[in-house]
Amino acid sequence: MSQSGIQKSIESVLRETRTFAPPATFSATAHINSEQQYEAMWNRAKDDPSGFWADMASNLDWFRRWDTVMQGHMPDTKWFVGGKINACYNCVDRHLDGPNRNKAAIIWEGEPGDTRVLRYQDLHREVCKFANVLKKLGVQTGDRVTIYMPMVPELAIAMLACARIGAVHSIIFGGFSADAVADRNNDAQAKVIVTADGGWRRGKEVPLKVAVDASLDKSASVEKVVVVRRTGGDVDMIPDRDFWWHELMEDVSADCDAVPLDSEHPLFILYTSGSTGKPKGVMHTTAGYLLGTTMTTRWVFDLKEDDTYWCTADIGWVTGHSYICYGPLSNGASVVMYEGAPNWPDEGRFWEMIEKYRVSIFYTAPTAIRAFIKWGNHWPEKHDLSSLRLLGSVGEPINPEAWMWYHKIIGQERCPIVDTWWQTETGAIMISPLPGITATKPGSCARPLPGVVPDIVSREGQSLGPNEGGLLVMRQPWPSMLRTLYGDHDRFRKTYFSDVPGCYFAGDGARHDEDGYIWVMGRVDDVLNVSGHRLSTMEVESALVSHPKVAEAAVVGFPHEIKGEGICCFVSLKSGDGDDALKKELIGHVRNSIGALATPDQIRFAPSLPKTRSGKIMRRLLRDVAAGRESTQDTTTLEDLSVLAKLRADEE
Ligand code: PRX
Repeated sequence: MSQSGIQKSIESVLRETRTFAPPATFSATAHINSEQQYEAMWNRAKDDPSGFWADMASNLDWFRRWDTVMQGHMPDTKWFVGGKINACYNCVDRHLDGPNRNKAAIIWEGEPGDTRVLRYQDLHREVCKFANVLKKLGVQTGDRVTIYMPMVPELAIAMLACARIGAVHSIIFGGFSADAVADRNNDAQAKVIVTADGGWRRGKEVPLKVAVDASLDKSASVEKVVVVRRTGGDVDMIPDRDFWWHELMEDVSADCDAVPLDSEHPLFILYTSGSTGKPKGVMHTTAGYLLGTTMTTRWVFDLKEDDTYWCTADIGWVTGHSYICYGPLSNGASVVMYEGAPNWPDEGRFWEMIEKYRVSIFYTAPTAIRAFIKWGNHWPEKHDLSSLRLLGSVGEPINPEAWMWYHKIIGQERCPIVDTWWQTETGAIMISPLPGITATKPGSCARPLPGVVPDIVSREGQSLGPNEGGLLVMRQPWPSMLRTLYGDHDRFRKTYFSDVPGCYFAGDGARHDEDGYIWVMGRVDDVLNVSGHRLSTMEVESALVSHPKVAEAAVVGFPHEIKGEGICCFVSLKSGDGDDALKKELIGHVRNSIGALATPDQIRFAPSLPKTRSGKIMRRLLRDVAAGRESTQDTTTLEDLSVLAKLRADEE
């Protein structure tokens, strides 16, 4: 969003004045239950981060205590230097000594309705065995393993098995295409890939192994492929390269010690879109990430012994990494995991599952909430949702009306809502209401958590006052921040630390109000937020331009009722006029190059694209055209004014 875009959003959200105090019954038992407690924690973490985080670190199990809590300065900080720890041990083994041994760790449901419950001791056995499988396949500490799977328990088992032996997992969301998998395999130089024959989505098989096979023609580093039998679909198994999960698991022992790893040992790489260039391999390390996710799960979701917790994200995104796997399991939670679509076999699936498992904490995304609203209140109304005590939202700004619907229809005006702001790069939730103390305002993610010191600044880096829109930055390092972009530390420094000197900045615009509540207003760079997932306009443009008929393309977002932002592509062809058949072909081409999540909503052909005299595409103008707005932008530098008129004439 441009600076003037920010100003516009401020005007539109300023009208929100409703506040919702936490229910007294909730506050009475909350982990953080008074304003004084929050303020004391926040101030201590700001003034004495080493002391604060050292205290927090006693919530983890260590093989060796650290020597130094925090070393270095932004952007290059290290945490718990000298400590030895293992994330898998903290998520699994440490729960085996007490009553949690027989507690459900993962309550899984497949889309067809099959179910599986893994108690902590079952999870331990499966993880140890798969860790031994990885070792047998030649995976060593530090090697990268790609995981490209449906939402089945083996996905969590595979990631924890990597963590157990210090292999670095790189999980790729199952909706990405073969090309995207190949790019990520190559960038990470992955040695092994773990996949499945396929997964279920709206009653259809999503073929994953076929995509893996295609990716391997272009990614030579991968030596072995492990395939989970899920759908029973036909797959080609190449001898000595491809192995069935269930066969490998038959001949390994269930004993495998967790390796004591340096605190700063890499835990995973997760690729995310940036405004320029290829996807960024965000790298997180072990101790700081684990501490961030463990503490925020406790603070924000107020997790208790008897909660049943459900985060509907896919583990292929950071939300699933942090709040299906590491955070909740480290806290010994019972986690619901679901394979399929929310509207299969009908639009009541989520509410049916909440009733069936007596889910108490439910964490989902605004795009899903907007779809629930569209499907109608009669779906949730058919089910008993009285087990719910807390609701969460993540991925994009939640519009106040969606917030109110969530509050009334799902929360039945009883459940606090935590609107959690964070990013792949931050590893853990940064800004969020604390459900026991925060009076929530629909559309605001409220205040920073302890250890998070945000500011809102102008492009020149000046702190701004209440209700002035600016860039959301972090002034202090925090334990779960990304450490680098895999293989490109220079890009890491430039991307996050060069816009506002001395601060971390990852692309969002925001304002704070007179109560210190933060209102995030969306991206200020060329990154789209489609259904809560980041997608770079540049990646979609490169996919389009790789089609032989396309000369040039410009991609912008436009407001979309369900997805938040839709994808609008302006395309100029090498010759001839475009027609509907070519539109379809280009849509298919983008899906094949990136994946279904990047499917364009609109393709508009234009004889040329509007550019400034210096040759830059005027995206702001295109955004106005895509949104059907009259442009208020200055067009004096437009190279060819007639181009704009032509683009408008092509409006559908
Ligand atoms: O623009 C912000 C938006 O999602 C971006 C981060 O995307 P990603 O790394 O894919 O992680 C998504 C899940 C953490 C942010 O830069 N965003 C995320 N949560 C919120 C949000 N925007 C407003 N409010 C939120 N609660």
